[in-house]
Amino acid sequence: MAETTHPSGTGAHGAPGGDDGTSRRDFLYLATGAVGAVGVAAAAWPFIDSMNPAADTLALASIEVDLAPVAEGQSITVTWRGKPVFVRHRTAKEIDEAKNVNLSELRDPAPDDKRVQKPEWLILVGVCTHLGCVPLGQKPTDPRGDYDGWFCPCHGSHYDTAGRIRKGPAPANLVVPQYAFLSDNRIRLG
Ligand code: FES
Repeated sequence: MAETTHPSGTGAHGAPGGDDGTSRRDFLYLATGAVGAVGVAAAAWPFIDSMNPAADTLALASIEVDLAPVAEGQSITVTWRGKPVFVRHRTAKEIDEAKNVNLSELRDPAPDDKRVQKPEWLILVGVCTHLGCVPLGQKPTDPRGDYDGWFCPCHGSHYDTAGRIRKGPAPANLVVPQYAFLSDNRIRLG
């Protein structure tokens, strides 16, 4: 005669759990474990999710900039990670001025070729290293200071054509951000 299984899990011999007397307890244990795991996952998700950057933050983490429209002698300002980034297409004269400097005269010595990847393109975070103002020098009508670069009117810092501090209270050069050339006329910031 065929053996039947009781819905409660009591086997044909009437013992709790049937022949496998521990199965009911095991089932309860496993079921409890499964609920526990789901609970942990549900609790963990909002935490993990909150650690991920928001989509708009990710979008701003790196941006591409087309340099083609920027003629020699022109500058543009782009916003990256909430900060202005200066892109200047330097003239031959500006490049010469940047190179022909005695580094021992500089407050924050740095050769020009360590601050650019291509001599004609100077890319800087446009935030004065004194107290964080945005220096002037991007528009053709702006004052550019005594060294032909940027002038911060807040307290009178002068930066040269490599963005190095030359005069005034700022302690350090304008920061060169992380960037890479994707082609001759296109960079990615970040
Ligand atoms: Fe630029 Fe003070 S913030 S000189």
